[in-house]
Amino acid sequence: MKILLLGSGGREHALAWKILQSPCVETLFVAPGNAGTQASGAVNVALKADDFEGVKRFVLAEGVDMVVVGPEDPLVKGIYDSFRDDEALSRIPVIGPSKAGAQLEGSKDFAKQFMRRHNIPTAAYQTFDGNHLAEGLAFLETLQPPYVLKADGLCAGKGVLIVPTLDEAKRELEEMLGGMFGQASARVVIEEFLSGIECSVFVLTDGRHYKILPEAKDYKRIGEGDTGLNTGGMGSVSPVPFADAEWMQKVEDRIIRPTVEGLASEGLDYKGFIFFGLINCNGDPKVIEYNCRMGDPETETVMLRLGSDIVDLFKGVAAGDLDQRSLTIDPRKAVCVMLVSGGYPGSYKKGFPIDLSEVGESADTVVFHAGTALSADGQVVTAGGRVIGVSSYGSTQAEAMARSFAVANQIQFEGKYFRRDIGSDL
Ligand code: AMP
Ligand code: GLY
Repeated sequence: MKILLLGSGGREHALAWKILQSPCVETLFVAPGNAGTQASGAVNVALKADDFEGVKRFVLAEGVDMVVVGPEDPLVKGIYDSFRDDEALSRIPVIGPSKAGAQLEGSKDFAKQFMRRHNIPTAAYQTFDGNHLAEGLAFLETLQPPYVLKADGLCAGKGVLIVPTLDEAKRELEEMLGGMFGQASARVVIEEFLSGIECSVFVLTDGRHYKILPEAKDYKRIGEGDTGLNTGGMGSVSPVPFADAEWMQKVEDRIIRPTVEGLASEGLDYKGFIFFGLINCNGDPKVIEYNCRMGDPETETVMLRLGSDIVDLFKGVAAGDLDQRSLTIDPRKAVCVMLVSGGYPGSYKKGFPIDLSEVGESADTVVFHAGTALSADGQVVTAGGRVIGVSSYGSTQAEAMARSFAVANQIQFEGKYFRRDIGSDL
């Protein structure tokens, strides 16, 4: 089979690593990919993931058999529909939901209404637009601090504000509705603050059946001890100790099954990953958010622990017989430590050479590239805020942590920073 994977981050390198282990794969293309996907045996293609016309031309020219979508952007913009509705392309499966299904991530208000319709546990909320500012301000007065304000649309991970005082919350609401995030904050969801530990749960669904992948926890803040600014993710661990069989049963019964059945009953075409961002509130799981794709950097630990052939699972998604496929989980623990550019998540420089020469071959550690590129003279250089995710197996979490930290120390580039406490809270 020829497969085209869309995206360029650590998540896509981890998906590429797993896809390339499948005996079904003849060629894996990654568009646009990074230095790591190219080095791993995939073929990078200079195409943007949301250039639908370019992607379609490439798929037809190369005889691609399946398209796997990494990031949310092309899904929310409707890449699935653009294949389904095109006579020349409709037989080529796209792993990812339709535009309608991707609203679970593309519109916070849609997701909240969906959960309300299907009695899926989540924070209490109300949504306001610019014509209802006064009502929004009055609603804030009925809540306890801290206040949670969410832009309805996609904001590259920046659309959620958690503010400590009522005055600030009112000011932020005004600014958001006034265009702080452009059209994405034309509507704002205000919701109850939930406290607890977060956990990311992933399923793959063919629209009727689903398989639950290994769960993971990510670390969002830049600083150790979960301090400082939010980032795209500084590391992840899988499994998550509190997500035991009893808790996961609640997640399946109260959240996963009602979500998949809800999508089907509403006729929302969904063949892909669902990412449940959950919070554990005194033993009861609640949904913080849905995403219509895998998490990053969770994928960098989840793929290590997925035992089965992922391409076989994708074939099940496409054929609608996912229940006939097997999903096995590696019992080992996995920990990913993300190396980032100095200054990230603020401004940072790119183009620094990355020295990987000290990193030895190991069956226990995989170095996933995120923001890397090849310079004209063939040198691997930094090309983003999050640069490299070092993922390791261990028979214990501590062993996996030690292996990832050791390799994180061996990789050198100017300004390198990583959190030395990934996993130490669990
Ligand atoms: P989201 O983009 O919805 O995942 O929100 C980003 C982050 O904000 C989440 O991962 C949580 O850490 C936090 N967050 C979002 N909603 C809430 C909430 N209702 N209560 C507490 N924390 C929240
Ligand atoms: N790790 C969180 C995300 O991918 O959105």
